[in-house]
Amino acid sequence: MSQDQNKKLWGGRFQSATDSSVEAFTESVSFDRRLYAHDIAGSIAHARMLAQVGVLTAAERDDIVRGLTAIRAEIESGDFPWSETLEDVHMNIESRLTEKIGEAGKKLHTGRSRNDQVATDVRLYLRDGIDRASMLLLDAQSALVELAARETDTIMPGFTHLQVAQPITFGHHLLAWTEMFERDFQRMRELRRRVNVMPLGSAALAGTSYPIDRDFTAAELGFERPSRNSLDAVSDRDFAIEYLSAAALIHMHLSRMSEELVMWSSAQFDFIELGDAYCTGSSIMPQKKNPDIPELLRGKAGRACGNLMNMLTLMKSQPLAYNRDNQEDKVPLFDGMDTLEASLTIFAALVPEIAPKRDNMRNAALKGFSTATDLADYLVKKGLPFRDAHEVVGKAVALGVESGRDLAELPLQTLQGFSGLISDDVYDVLTLEGSVAARDHTGGTAPVQVKKAVEQARVRIDQYRNKL
Ligand code: ARG
Repeated sequence: MSQDQNKKLWGGRFQSATDSSVEAFTESVSFDRRLYAHDIAGSIAHARMLAQVGVLTAAERDDIVRGLTAIRAEIESGDFPWSETLEDVHMNIESRLTEKIGEAGKKLHTGRSRNDQVATDVRLYLRDGIDRASMLLLDAQSALVELAARETDTIMPGFTHLQVAQPITFGHHLLAWTEMFERDFQRMRELRRRVNVMPLGSAALAGTSYPIDRDFTAAELGFERPSRNSLDAVSDRDFAIEYLSAAALIHMHLSRMSEELVMWSSAQFDFIELGDAYCTGSSIMPQKKNPDIPELLRGKAGRACGNLMNMLTLMKSQPLAYNRDNQEDKVPLFDGMDTLEASLTIFAALVPEIAPKRDNMRNAALKGFSTATDLADYLVKKGLPFRDAHEVVGKAVALGVESGRDLAELPLQTLQGFSGLISDDVYDVLTLEGSVAARDHTGGTAPVQVKKAVEQARVRIDQYRNKL
């Protein structure tokens, strides 16, 4: 046996050394080393449990805890001798432990396998990531709510089919985005419960013959409970799929918001200005100020969906229980976590940089016959059936289109030509302010309702923050 092979923790039954190309192909330490803190936390809890049930002595446990704590410090100061030959983060740390503390180090792996170890590490790591993402979703919501609070009375056109539909307030539009993040936040909190289940104790696949106390270990690590089935626990990666699915959904939301920001900052819409610090220029066209951040956010949605597809395809058709395929879970999961956190962070920072051009927004709402529904409602209130009112207003709009005037610009006499029910109070409903103020109910765009919704959102977000 070569010297190299001696280093393998599993080398006992092997005659010849692993080919170096195989080492390079199978290693995961280059990307799973970021699990080190959670791997060490899991090992410490495991050692404490083994001592509790009498499999380790108290002295062995203390040596292990001290050794692992020292290793964590080594890693954090950059002094840890990472080795690709030792394959993954688990064997790097275990082998270093034995180097440092001797015999007791060799006992740490009693009653566990890397299969339950890695599933435990990833769940612990992801649990922290979910809490970070949850907080970032609250930050993004807060940023939107505070901007909405300043824009409760700002009028803009609301669109359907990207055609001017009815006037709305900008605050109301921003609170629509907030609702998307609110659902995303709920999804994160719900999936956290399914992540927070402990595989440790499942060992390789069938459990272990040592008298382990899994409730003890679960309590040490803050898991809600130990897993119920060892085969499922070592092979399940649903929790990663759920997170990546929630992340893809968040990116889909971000891409919708970003698309609107890109449109609004164009010369054609000219609804907003984005802060200089959050835009970039062109290397050839001196006049350009490009909305690169929203564009990149829009683009990241592709990456987020890709990570979800990667993970789903990785799991498809895998027989029970653990297979080495599972090692690949970390690539999309870690990238998914990094991408989501970066996207939400920059989005929350971008929102206060949105400067609305209120006059342009208002003028755009004046242009598209956006109060036509209000005129129809006016006629209905005067006794005309809605369908007839729709027809009457349609004719008035046709005249407006033909003569290049909005409804509010048509003289009373002209309007009365379409219906004798119209009198001079019609101009109250044809104004933008009258139109939005009339939508005065829960969920409506009236400024008073938007102010109320802002207050409710602030209270709700604060409550979530205090519980995280
Ligand atoms: N590096 C492996 C992973 O990430 C650890 C588990 C390996 N287990 C095994 N029996 N080869 O999945």
